[in-house]
Amino acid sequence: MPEFPHAMLREIYEQPDALTRTLKAYLSSDGLKADVAAELSSWSNPEGEVLIVASGSSRHSGLAAEITLEDLCGLAVDVEYASEYSCRGGRERRRPSAIVLSQSGETSDTLASLREARRRGHHTLAITNAAASTMAQEADVSMPLIAGAEKAVPATKSFTCQLALLYVLALYEAARLGQMDAATLAAHIAELRKLPASLAAQLDTWRAQMFVLAQKYTNAASFLYLGRGVHYAIAREGALKLKEASYIHAEGYPAGELKHGPNALVSDSVPLVVLATVDRTLEGSMLRYEKTVQLLEDMKTQGAKVIALANTGDEAVKCLVSDCVEVPPAPEHLLPILEVVPLQFFSYFMALEHGVDVDRPRNLSKAVVEQPAG
Ligand code: AGP
Repeated sequence: MPEFPHAMLREIYEQPDALTRTLKAYLSSDGLKADVAAELSSWSNPEGEVLIVASGSSRHSGLAAEITLEDLCGLAVDVEYASEYSCRGGRERRRPSAIVLSQSGETSDTLASLREARRRGHHTLAITNAAASTMAQEADVSMPLIAGAEKAVPATKSFTCQLALLYVLALYEAARLGQMDAATLAAHIAELRKLPASLAAQLDTWRAQMFVLAQKYTNAASFLYLGRGVHYAIAREGALKLKEASYIHAEGYPAGELKHGPNALVSDSVPLVVLATVDRTLEGSMLRYEKTVQLLEDMKTQGAKVIALANTGDEAVKCLVSDCVEVPPAPEHLLPILEVVPLQFFSYFMALEHGVDVDRPRNLSKAVVEQPAG
């Protein structure tokens, strides 16, 4: 077992076990659990509208879930910042089912949003990493992650467990709505079950590679992380992780927005991190990939420095970029769970390069909870 000088590194390594535990809690040996399906049917709304409210990394898993729930179930999903939702007027004619996502289950803005959603009469579901948290207790339905305690301020295993559980939720919804036949459902579950082992097999390779890349890019002033579709969420998460862990500026953008402004920033000191994986069985994923490859060609012509995340053995991407990180194959909506892990390692090693106390970055706390006045 490798050594863990920091909680963040240990928690990155704990992800395969955390995922296995979380999946076990929500899947039976032959598929979906009847008691979970029954609880969810009381939460789901007949119009197929979902509202997701969260902050920080938890909101990023919500962005991935937005695409997954739309693609797999045909649901109409809105994702809100908890800090915005909890302060808005509250005149709403729609009746979405609401999901609050929170590692701690105590973040003040997300808790206020849960209470606001309940006040508006929405059915609420809390996905937290603390089964006894306030959100878990106040929501109509609670689906706790079984990630185990997360100590480092930068979220790692709670984030990948959120992604996995939201994917499971999409499968329950797809089955309930008749959007997926039994064979397709079984195939999705089989792919999901492969993830922990697939991740575990890559950890040491990614650790070694990102250690080297952190040294190579240590002097970069800023990074732009780019992704399309479900991978945009990972671009946002990768950038947030770098900012909070290493104090290096980074932004996550939809890949197609680069040329609408941010490209002016790209220079020797502002490299790109591009999510360029693909699920070749899916037409939409192929289209996204082709557009990403075109962007990488343009960036090569422009002379940009690019770190790409691409499928194992993807020579087409490799020859267009400065550095390529290989990600094992997975279905489109599961790829994010794999992609984010090398980006967690990158942030971790960047933090070490810059002398940051990565488990306790300045000005941040594990849960942003308002102190009572006085
Ligand atoms: C994650 O790395 C951050 N520390 C932060 O964005 C966090 O996700 C956010 O504060 C929300 O916390 P929660 O999930 O406990 O609600």
